[in-house]
Amino acid sequence: MRYLDRPANPYVERETAGLPPGTALDAGCGAGAEAALLASLGWTVTGVDISPEAIVAAQRASSAVEWIEADLTTWHPARQFDLVTTHYAHASIPHLDLYDRLAGWVAPGGSLLIVGHADDGHHEASVRLDDVVARLAGWRIDTAIETVRGSLYDVVVRASKVEP
Ligand SMILES: C[S@@+](CC[C@H](N)C(=O)[O-])C[C@H]1O[C@@H](n2cnc3c(N)ncnc32)[C@H](O)[C@@H]1O
Repeated sequence: MRYLDRPANPYVERETAGLPPGTALDAGCGAGAEAALLASLGWTVTGVDISPEAIVAAQRASSAVEWIEADLTTWHPARQFDLVTTHYAHASIPHLDLYDRLAGWVAPGGSLLIVGHADDGHHEASVRLDDVVARLAGWRIDTAIETVRGSLYDVVVRASKVEP
């Protein structure tokens, strides 16, 4: 996979606009555009990716982010985050299982922002919106949409971890 310098996808700014900046994790950050944008918006950001090439590209994108080369299926963060986000990450485990792990890393009152490929019958790494929302039982669902962005057909889910 080549890691290209490109702008962050528009969901990051749109979906975090109403959130107070705090700590954030971008899981499967690739070349780091989304994590770098969050840092520029005042978040204290950690970006994790399994690929050393991705981490090298991400380090070029921003020096304001803590970049970690790690496997999200086994890695455990030392703390929870106010925002955990992931954009088109497809690990070796099923998407919904990965999202379960990410959900566990959200601090009480924090947010989870998932962007994935919608199930159009063609994309092998797709997710169904209903399945993602169903997996977040007990969360407040703030955004749950399927949307077209150029040639992409996306699922965008933002949910808040309700404080006990
Ligand atoms: C399609 S790319 C998306 C990258 C970036 N989020 C973006 O939107 O451009 C998927 C990313 O997930 C990373 N990835 C896949 N499996 C992973 C794992 N087990 N742990 C961490 N990162 C993983 C890949 O290395 C790759 O950078």
